[in-house]
Amino acid sequence: MFCILALFFLSPIYIHMPKIIYNTHDNETYTIEVQNGLTVMEGAVQNDVPGIDADCGGGMACATCHVYVKEDWFNKLPKKEDGEEDMLDMAFEPKPNSRLSCQIIVSDDLDGLEVNIPSKQA
Ligand code: FES
Repeated sequence: MFCILALFFLSPIYIHMPKIIYNTHDNETYTIEVQNGLTVMEGAVQNDVPGIDADCGGGMACATCHVYVKEDWFNKLPKKEDGEEDMLDMAFEPKPNSRLSCQIIVSDDLDGLEVNIPSKQA
């Protein structure tokens, strides 16, 4: 009985967190483990990834969290809401694979998600 309890309490608890890959415009890559339920924006801000300022704190009112999602990931993400589409119209050089990183919620399904940060936000 003691051995079982010791194993439970003394073994390191492994918590898997999805990795999100952020590429800056100057070819720096940040691979960050982001907790499920946070947004891609929050993962960047909490880890000082340059180029994602998130001035509105995720309120979908600034577009300073704009990212380009790698093509093979774009169709795996939930669809944009109308408000996100409207805000992306005001972003710097939006492209078909543009998203607001504050609207992408991290989950195990997004492990390995890769985004590029527009140069204007650097
Ligand atoms: S943080 Fe402002 S729109 Fe995403």
